[in-house]
Amino acid sequence: MTGNELREAYLQFFAEKKGHLRLPSYSLVPENDPTLLLIGAGMAPLKPFFTGKVKPPRPRITTCQRSVRTGDIENVGRTARHQTFFEMLGNFSFGDYFKKEAIPWAWEFLTEVIELPKDKLWVSIYPEDDEARSIWLSETDVLPDHIVALEDNFWEIGPGPCGPDSEIYIDLGEERGCGEPTCGIGCDCDRFLEIWNLVFTQYDRTEEGEYNLLAHKNIDTGCGLERLASVVQNKRTNFETDLLYPIIEYTSKISGIAYGVDPKKDISLKVIADHARSVAIMIMDGILPSNEGRGYVLRRTLRRAIRHGRMLGITKPFLDGTVDAVVEIFRDAKDFSELLTKQDYIKRVIRVEEDRFASTLAQGIELLNEEVTRLKDVHETVLNGEIGFKLYDTYGFPRELTEEILHEHGITLDDEGFHREMEKQRTRARSARGENQAVAVPDLSGIDTGSLTEDATATTAVVVAIWRDGELVDSLRDGESAGIILSTTPFHAEGGGQVGDEGILRSDLGYLTVSNAKRLPDGTVYHLAYVEEGQIQCGDTVEIGLDTKKKLSSARNHTATHLLQAALRRVVGDHVQQAGSLVTPERLRFDFTNFEPVSEQQLRDVEELVNEEILRSTDLHISMMPIDEAKALGAMALFGEKYGDIVRVVRVPDFSIELCGGSHVTNTGQIGLFKIVSESGVAAGVRRIEAITGRAACAYAAEMARTVQEIAHKLKTRPEELCAQVDKFMSERKSMQEQLRSFAEFRDQADAQKLLMGVQEIGNFHVVLGKANVDAMDELRNIADLTCEKLEIGIVVLGAVIDDKVSLVVKADKDAVKRGAHAGNIIKAAAKAVGGGGGGRPDMAQAGGKNPEKLPQAFEEAVAVIRQQVSAE
Ligand code: ALA
Repeated sequence: MTGNELREAYLQFFAEKKGHLRLPSYSLVPENDPTLLLIGAGMAPLKPFFTGKVKPPRPRITTCQRSVRTGDIENVGRTARHQTFFEMLGNFSFGDYFKKEAIPWAWEFLTEVIELPKDKLWVSIYPEDDEARSIWLSETDVLPDHIVALEDNFWEIGPGPCGPDSEIYIDLGEERGCGEPTCGIGCDCDRFLEIWNLVFTQYDRTEEGEYNLLAHKNIDTGCGLERLASVVQNKRTNFETDLLYPIIEYTSKISGIAYGVDPKKDISLKVIADHARSVAIMIMDGILPSNEGRGYVLRRTLRRAIRHGRMLGITKPFLDGTVDAVVEIFRDAKDFSELLTKQDYIKRVIRVEEDRFASTLAQGIELLNEEVTRLKDVHETVLNGEIGFKLYDTYGFPRELTEEILHEHGITLDDEGFHREMEKQRTRARSARGENQAVAVPDLSGIDTGSLTEDATATTAVVVAIWRDGELVDSLRDGESAGIILSTTPFHAEGGGQVGDEGILRSDLGYLTVSNAKRLPDGTVYHLAYVEEGQIQCGDTVEIGLDTKKKLSSARNHTATHLLQAALRRVVGDHVQQAGSLVTPERLRFDFTNFEPVSEQQLRDVEELVNEEILRSTDLHISMMPIDEAKALGAMALFGEKYGDIVRVVRVPDFSIELCGGSHVTNTGQIGLFKIVSESGVAAGVRRIEAITGRAACAYAAEMARTVQEIAHKLKTRPEELCAQVDKFMSERKSMQEQLRSFAEFRDQADAQKLLMGVQEIGNFHVVLGKANVDAMDELRNIADLTCEKLEIGIVVLGAVIDDKVSLVVKADKDAVKRGAHAGNIIKAAAKAVGGGGGGRPDMAQAGGKNPEKLPQAFEEAVAVIRQQVSAE
């Protein structure tokens, strides 16, 4: 049986004999499943049927699903059965039949339809699954001692449907085995080949790793077509079956290397055979090479195949040639009919990528070899991340490829260093996506701009010119940004205060994002574009996708700007003239002449007037007319702006009329809501209003309402009573502050009183010394004043510890000063004792110090100085 016959036999068995709906293979690109990069199992595209999110067209389905798995890519070619691309035959039940049917049907297909010898078949079961064991025993004639319990018979792939499974193996004979006494099913050697996995899908694994019972029990099976073919066709490996061997033959012919002579060369032949299928079919399913996601898997696989071509001595491009062999292999398989219709296209994509990689591969290999030799010389085993990244970035070596080559020499790559460099590169790329690269416009005199058009409804165009860094180029590839001119464009170019449109361009071979559109001095529109995937060439036809959501947001803001200007002229006065404006999808900014700030009442009136116009839902009238006619109609024009003879006039009937080239809504009702968010001055005589519309205004209003609700809740009142409540709180606060002040005064009095009890006489002076418990210097001064008032010929020396530091105050009354007291001199000595400094007037001084524990010494010093001042009297 050929591979194609085998596929048919399986699908027919389940469709015709067992009542399954036969569906074509799904694409390799998952639909609505962010947990998966590529489809890697028959059940993967059917997940919603298992979970019950979507009702299946029939409770029994059978498919032959094309799949890609790259987790074990290094093993491809080294073993008999590892592949990146494979086909998985499967029969599925969604809450319909279960183990009792799935097990005997699999047995029936294997032993009766394709007639595998029963005594060579083995099965494994999940240890706790007694049900499966007894069904195998009662419903099939598998040899009882060929049933083995294996702990890892539980199948899952990321989050989603999963469950215990039962696997079917074929014993290929002792001579294929490793000969170890432990060899049996589950052994890694080539003797026991797993051909079919029956999964009893009962659980749904969450992202967090919890297993929830599904609403119903399901069956998911997977049978590797290439493995089955190797058994049926009696081949030692999958690569020798008719599903892969024609590619080996092709590569053998091109390289002159015969298969089966040198095991090392065989690896390369097998790698190319596997990768050629992966690459062709990924491209068939719409994937293009890039440095991210699926595109990166494709690029990595493609480049790995090219490198193996080099290892076989092939120096010319050859990989596109494998496509013919792949097409032949699948010629009779309906699910792959697109291979034929896209044959040339697939070859083109491969060729572009191959040429690109070929130009750097040899240099990259040379650099890598030099590094390997150097590392070996110094007995090191880690390649630094910078070189790894250089190989990736400059020479196009996917990281995994570098690692694989290093691995052959026992060297690893400094992962952290590599990622650091990658991060830096990402930052550079982000800015490259913007304008930096493309602003330098080259000499475009050779380009016929006369035939270019602007057409708001255009959906396709031809690429007329491309430039990078000020130079015209023929093509661009992923990761590059450029200026691009199209034969026709619906993009609004930056100008008249409005930012340029954003969107995407998609061609056969490339996918680009457009971050802005601008005009050349002659008026020609050009686009600032970044190639996300694939490549683009002059002459390519592109499909255009405008970011209509952003465009509509800009249009809302632009029309609202016109309404704002008209409203300002009505509310604030005719003298209002536009002095500048900026329209983005997010907001609008309007600068205008006016000498005073616009009052709150005026702003409210303006806002209301604009919203009235929005509610009136008026259609806009946009037309081209001679400038004189426009002026006669009273159109507002910008002072100092040059207009052509024919101008574009934007009218909101009975409200606003302006000359304008920007994007507008068709009806004012589309603006939805207008909200002023700020009013400020920008220059003498120029005011600025910022406002938002549409979704942004609704979101703003909702946010404000939420905030008010929240505050009302905190203040335990209702929103409409919020102001009264706040007033009440404010007046309460005021009276509390007053109370606090009188309490503090009272306390200071009491402190003063206490200090006075310790008054001592030094000569004629009445002296109070002491420590006060205060938090601030002015309180300390207040207590000193209060104390001193009560003394005759008095001196007060107070200290306090505030924030771990010492504060000192000395006060002397008039009589004391007359008799020779000097507060400044007293404090000088006292402050020194606490590690500080200070001085002051004879009647009043203050100082600070660092050492609170020295406060008693400070008082002693003060007393000593006072004694001197007494004796000097
Ligand atoms: N989903 C199961 C597998 O991929 C059948 O092995």
